[in-house]
Amino acid sequence: MEHPTAEAPVTVKDLRKTFGGQTVLNGVDLEAAQGETVAVLGRSGTGKSVLLKLLVGLQSPDSGSIRIRGQEITKLEENRLNELRKKMGFLFQQAALYDSLTVEQNVEFPLMRHTRMAPGERRQRVRELLADVGMEKDLEKLPSQISGGMQKRVGLARALALEPDIVLFDEPTAGLDPITAGEIGKVIVQLKQKRKITAVVVTHDVRGARKFADRLVLLRDGRIVTEGTFENLQKSRDDFVVQFLRDG
Ligand SMILES: Nc1ncnc2c1ncn2[C@@H]1O[C@H](COP(=O)(O)OP(=O)(O)OP(=O)(O)O)[C@@H](O)[C@H]1O
Ligand SMILES: [Mg+2]
Repeated sequence: MEHPTAEAPVTVKDLRKTFGGQTVLNGVDLEAAQGETVAVLGRSGTGKSVLLKLLVGLQSPDSGSIRIRGQEITKLEENRLNELRKKMGFLFQQAALYDSLTVEQNVEFPLMRHTRMAPGERRQRVRELLADVGMEKDLEKLPSQISGGMQKRVGLARALALEPDIVLFDEPTAGLDPITAGEIGKVIVQLKQKRKITAVVVTHDVRGARKFADRLVLLRDGRIVTEGTFENLQKSRDDFVVQFLRDG
C-alpha cells in the first residue's frame, strides 16, 4: 500500500550550480512523485541537462538537496552512487553509445554487467528492448553506422535494460521525425502504465510532453518559474509561458 506521506522518489530542494562565474541553477525545487512523468522545459542553455546530470550524481551541486528514494545523493560516495544508478535509467542528450560495440552489444552491456542472465535469455531480452523502440533491425551495426535518431532509440533501449524504477531522459525525441517521436512518447507512457515508473524528461517538444507528461515544469533564469498540467499552463497569462507554448 502506498504510504500517504511517503516522500517523492525524486525530491530536489533549493539546488544551486555555478560554473566559474556563471549561475546556471539558482534554487531549483522539483519533485517527481511515484509513477509520475514530469517534463522539464526551457530554452536552450537554461540548465536542463545540468539538472539531469546532478540528479544522477554525475556532477555535484554547489548547494541544495537531491533525494532519490529518500536518500541524499549529494553526499554519497561513488560505489553507493553506482548501486543507486543501477535502478535509474539515464538517457544522455547525446546518446553516448559505446562506439566500438554494435547496437546489440550496447543494449546487452548492462545485462552482462549487472545480471546473471544466460546468453540466450539475454539475447531475447535485448531483442525485446530494441523492438520496443523500433530498432530490432541493424543489430550488427556500429553507432557510427546508424542515424542520430536511431542512436537515440538504442540509448533508450539500453537505459531501460535493467528495468529501472526511475528514468531520466534528456530530449528522447530530439532529432526524430514526428511519427517516431510519437512512438517514443508511447514507450514513455507505457513505462508509466505498466510499471508505475517515475520519470523526469527534458524536452523541447511541448506537444509531445502534453501527451506523455503528467506535469510540465518550465525552467528559466535558474529556477522553475511555472508548473502544472498542459491545460493549467495554457491558462497562464505570463508572456513567457504563452510564448513558450505557442512557439514550442
Ligand atoms: N561542465 C560545464 N562547464 C562549464 N559550463 C557548463 C558545463 N556544463 C554546462 N555548462 C553551462 O551551463 C549552461 C546550461 O547548460 P545545459 O547543457 O544544462 O543547457 P540545456 O538547458 O540542457 O540546453 P539545451 O536545450 O541546448 O540542451 C550553459 O551555459 C553551459 O555552457
Ligand atoms: Mg541539454
